[in-house]
Amino acid sequence: MQEFSEAERCRGRRVAFVPTMGYFHEGHLNLMRIGRKRGDCLVVSIYVNPAQFAPTEDMDAYPRDFERDRTLAEGLGVDVIFCPDNREMYPEGYQTHVEVEGVTNNLCGISRPRFFRGVTTVCTKLFHIVKPHITIFGKKDFQQYVTIRRMVRDLNMDIEVVGMDTTREPDGLAMSSRNVYLNPEERKSALSLSRSLNLAGELYDNGERDASSILGKVRAWIAGYPHTEIDYAQICDVMTMKDAARIEGECVLALAVRVGKTRLIDNRVFGESLETGEGILGGR
Ligand code: PAJ
Repeated sequence: MQEFSEAERCRGRRVAFVPTMGYFHEGHLNLMRIGRKRGDCLVVSIYVNPAQFAPTEDMDAYPRDFERDRTLAEGLGVDVIFCPDNREMYPEGYQTHVEVEGVTNNLCGISRPRFFRGVTTVCTKLFHIVKPHITIFGKKDFQQYVTIRRMVRDLNMDIEVVGMDTTREPDGLAMSSRNVYLNPEERKSALSLSRSLNLAGELYDNGERDASSILGKVRAWIAGYPHTEIDYAQICDVMTMKDAARIEGECVLALAVRVGKTRLIDNRVFGESLETGEGILGGR
């Protein structure tokens, strides 16, 4: 993989990279479409990274279908599907990790303590292997996107990180490989996330800026759906990912909700766009 990318770079070709854990849906495919447009060569990785799963989580059950993924990727003009195995990524004696501090302390950093360290470590490795000029991440996993941008900036990685809006089902549910776990009843309750984000959007449009007032209504709305259990519903400043008392500047309303046994996340950003902002995350 390194030799291939080095050869591409030497020929003056831009390498675009989309890291994934496979089991593609339209959200993944949209990241690839951007990669196809922005790069001369498009690399997609499929790797279910053990370092970001806790022992109690769904690592072994995580859905996989390589042949289907391959067909979809080929259809989009992906040049390389990179699928390393665990022995290659974490050989015996492996002992190096990459950890981003502040922005990982809240939200998923609390409910999934090892998660971000696993993500930043594997992405650093993948970036060194694939050597991309540009990488594309989904804002569905907003805190992951912020964390990767922070890491790339802090560690002077010469990579442009592009964020892609969340791709949704026609009824609003954010696409996720984990949606296949939902039974028909849970599938209905899964709409509590996108619907409560829309409700918050209406409140915001009507001038509401008080975080606890918005969150109170969002929590009550979600609790009205059967089989739901809120892990978190918080409004955070996008630069620090710390809780905000009021929506001022750019903030994200981030949700993690267990629907039956499936943990779903979704979010909505208020205020300016990350890309146009001049703050920590603006530019490169
Ligand atoms: P995975 O969940 O497979 O997601 C791969 C990429 O697709 C991520 O950037 C994610 O944000 C994006 N994505 C997922 N659902 C999306 C949707 N509905 N709309 C837009 N983008 C979406 O995220 C991971 O894998 C892993 O943590 C990884 C970064 C590969 C590291 O192991």
